Amino acid sequence: MTDHAKAAGLLLEWYRLQARDLPWRRTQDPWAIWVSEIMLQQTRVEAVIPKWLAFLQRFPRVNDFAEASEDQVLQSWSGLGYYRRVRMLHRAAQQVVQDRGGLFPTSSDQWQSLPGVGAYTSAALASILGGEPVAVVDGNVKRVTARLLGLEFRADQAALHRAATIWAQRLHDHSWDAGDLNQALMELG
Ligand code: ADE
Repeated sequence: MTDHAKAAGLLLEWYRLQARDLPWRRTQDPWAIWVSEIMLQQTRVEAVIPKWLAFLQRFPRVNDFAEASEDQVLQSWSGLGYYRRVRMLHRAAQQVVQDRGGLFPTSSDQWQSLPGVGAYTSAALASILGGEPVAVVDGNVKRVTARLLGLEFRADQAALHRAATIWAQRLHDHSWDAGDLNQALMELG
């Protein structure tokens, strides 16, 4: 067995046993999971949980949010900050409803065409929702990579970003659950 196969197996096993029980891990609803990933871009899990629950109670479907007024959009994000995220989420929700007939993207490329969804969030969404084997590379994944490969960790290091991308992407060749593998790496970090 290769090192990558071993690492992927251990990560998936660890995640199965140790993953935090987070509300967005109990649903398969693309809208609910999308909202969670946008909130988690710049906000800690503990702060996101109550805001995510309230947001989805107010806007249970993407259509509900697409129709919201600007005031309602900003109100829905109060306490979370970084309001650019919710303005882009609103534009993206309108695109899904108006341009895509209410159908969510089904690949990381399609996700990335929406406002506010970059490389990191598109990989998270496509792997969690569709099992696409594409690596998420955020600060946590870089931390894990640095630790395991004995590299110096600096969040802004381009070489570390490349190394983490290659290493994490290889793990996916040996994984049977892309979403769990990505979430395991993010959570371990
Ligand atoms: N950070 C952002 N998205 C996450 C997820 N799905 N699991 C763990 N950490 C995350």
